[in-house]
Amino acid sequence: MGKLMEYSKFVLIIIFISLFIILFRHTRLRTIEKHVEPITDQTTSKHDSYFSTYLEEINKTRLLCGQLCNTSRKGTPGIFFDKITATINCKALFQNEYVDSFHGLAHAPRKIPSILLNDYTMNGLIKVHTAYFNQPYLGSTARIPIWTKSLLKEYVAQAKKGKLFGTYGISETNALRDGLQHAPGVKGGRVLVIGSEKPWVEACLLEIGAKSIVTLEYGRIKSEHEQITTMVPSEYRRTYLDNTLGLFDAVVSFSSIEHSGL
Ligand SMILES: *[C@@H]1O[C@H](CO)[C@@H](O)[C@H](O)[C@H]1NC(C)=O
Ligand SMILES: *[C@@H]1O[C@H](CO)[C@@H](O)[C@H](O)[C@H]1NC(C)=O
Repeated sequence: MGKLMEYSKFVLIIIFISLFIILFRHTRLRTIEKHVEPITDQTTSKHDSYFSTYLEEINKTRLLCGQLCNTSRKGTPGIFFDKITATINCKALFQNEYVDSFHGLAHAPRKIPSILLNDYTMNGLIKVHTAYFNQPYLGSTARIPIWTKSLLKEYVAQAKKGKLFGTYGISETNALRDGLQHAPGVKGGRVLVIGSEKPWVEACLLEIGAKSIVTLEYGRIKSEHEQITTMVPSEYRRTYLDNTLGLFDAVVSFSSIEHSGL
């Protein structure tokens, strides 16, 4: 019960920070490779038969995910988003190896396999635009694989001056800093960062006074900073299941969860 309450607190914090991002995001600075031809429901792909073997796993996952993964449910209006309450079986989800497995192909498919299109678009709820990334970080290293003390020191100093570029530009970094100032649990807390290619979010957290930070990232990162430890998803799952993960006072994620696994 205590854990559940902690969990809902974290969800609220994540939502709060996501809203912040949405409110302050004007430009997306990451360059993406654009493709012109639209994807339609009729798209066929040579990957269909490959991914059809995954459908059973997806179905099993959906089943144990329960109400949380039922996208047909209607929420009640919240401050920014509709609000939906769901019972979460954390243990069942963490026990499922499929949740953080890799697709196993040399390159991410250029087109959404039609067999998965409904799941990708929440049954057509999400409009499809084409943009292609091939970032197979799982099982590989992150963009900056070693986080040195001096790198963090420099980032924190830049953040203090309001001049840290981060991944999305100075104004995005400053918007996040502003949000973190108001988020409960950050100052003096143990904070989880979900998704991180370079430690700009971590630097903002250190600047504001987080006591310790755990970064969860698909790509492997070696942190030489004593307040930052890093984990890949399999380690996160394992430590959750053997009860050594511990609790967090806050969770921060910037532009990661919404495209994880796509
Ligand atoms: C998965 O579930 C969907 C919808 O519930 C169903 O149509 C489909 O046949 C299932 N596929 C497998 C492989 O179990
Ligand atoms: C999903 O939610 C809808 C709307 O509340 C409900 O009618 C449906 O039975 C749910 N599906 C499952 C599989 O629980």
